[in-house]
Amino acid sequence: MARIALGISGGIGAYKAVEVARGLQQRGHDVVAVMTRNARRFVGRLTLEAITRHPVVTSQWTNGANAGVEHIALASSIDLLLVAPATANILGKFAGGIADDFLSALYLATTAPVMVAPAMNTHMFEHPAVQQNLRTLAGRGVAVLDPGAGYLACGWTGKGRLPEPAEIVDAAHRLVGGARSLAGVRVLVTAGPTFEDIDPVRYLGNRSSGRMGFAIAREAAGRGATVVLVAGPTALEPPAVHELVRVRGAVEMRDAVMARAEGTGAIIMAAAVADYAPAVREPRKIGKSADAVTLELRRTPDILAGLGAWRRERGAARPVLIGFAAETGEAVARGRRKLEAKHADFIVVNDVLEPGAGFEVETNVVTLVGRDWEEALPLQAKSSIAGAILDRLERALGGQVTP
Ligand code: PMT
Repeated sequence: MARIALGISGGIGAYKAVEVARGLQQRGHDVVAVMTRNARRFVGRLTLEAITRHPVVTSQWTNGANAGVEHIALASSIDLLLVAPATANILGKFAGGIADDFLSALYLATTAPVMVAPAMNTHMFEHPAVQQNLRTLAGRGVAVLDPGAGYLACGWTGKGRLPEPAEIVDAAHRLVGGARSLAGVRVLVTAGPTFEDIDPVRYLGNRSSGRMGFAIAREAAGRGATVVLVAGPTALEPPAVHELVRVRGAVEMRDAVMARAEGTGAIIMAAAVADYAPAVREPRKIGKSADAVTLELRRTPDILAGLGAWRRERGAARPVLIGFAAETGEAVARGRRKLEAKHADFIVVNDVLEPGAGFEVETNVVTLVGRDWEEALPLQAKSSIAGAILDRLERALGGQVTP
């Protein structure tokens, strides 16, 4: 059971917050509602008080609310701050670090994970200022739920509707680690770059930080999977997993993966593996005498293609094989070709030239590409992308995606 602060800001979707509160309670969580002044115009404080069985926090300035410096006390006692609906105004305050009411002060004061469910008029949602604020928040690790599209209360049709309460409840429940949906499944994840040594001093590497792979490993562990993480050289702190294997080059990564592939339910290849490595690793530092040097490069083993062939030889449907494709144009078409060539079940395609996507950053923009389906995921935190990938994996394990 987690303690969840449910922030409600002043949008028409505020009435759905009652259902969200109820859904969270049904999953065994303790909910404290925090309402902004405008939220109270849309939904009654008494309703939420009766449902949550806690006083509803509305203001920092209520008599008696400051004996325990309420926003600090609540901030340090919660496992999640969930804001649904999150208006353009509250998102702007969060992004800008403004703390002029209880909810915005709570956002700054808490170290718990934060999830927001934006809901507003479609033009407001698409406004560059709002999109910039969402990117800022996602970049800080805030989980941003994608609003639904359709007929909006303001009479417009488009994107901006608060997701269904059940979807919000599911996402929040997963974030606090309540869903053990991958319990008993062994999941192998690769992350980070590979370094291919030229001599004892130099190497060929790439910009992968390991963030994407680590987010997937963390999410899988949170869902109860037994996670084996094979990581290339990266300075980032890895998540707590069942087994962490540190490797350097592509061959070492291949050996580590193949030795552990048997018995896995899924293998997710988020690592940026070198395609070429120096044909010879010089035993001593190459000196600076010639005006130009030529480096001969040879193809490295393709680990994902090797896994695809290994699985086909056995005529097996498991492990589910999920690859990535780092592209710089025509991303989906190229990703689809990799899906087929490597015999994966689906490929997570990112165009690394897109702002906020790909290497090093905390966010990504991807399209999941399966044999006869595609799902585009707009810019969001890598933790949310990881959640969407694992949702698809769970469907594949349940037999709903045919390899
Ligand atoms: O680590 P971050 O900073 O968070 O960045 C994330 C990321 C950009 C590294 C990640 O989102 C990503 O795109 N990873 C895959 C990078 C890559 O190597 O793409 P590719 O298109 O070259 O390879 C396609 C697939 O084959 C990948 O799953 C790759 O792991 C695999 N591969 C590639 C080469 C090789 N020799 N063996 C492989 O298994």
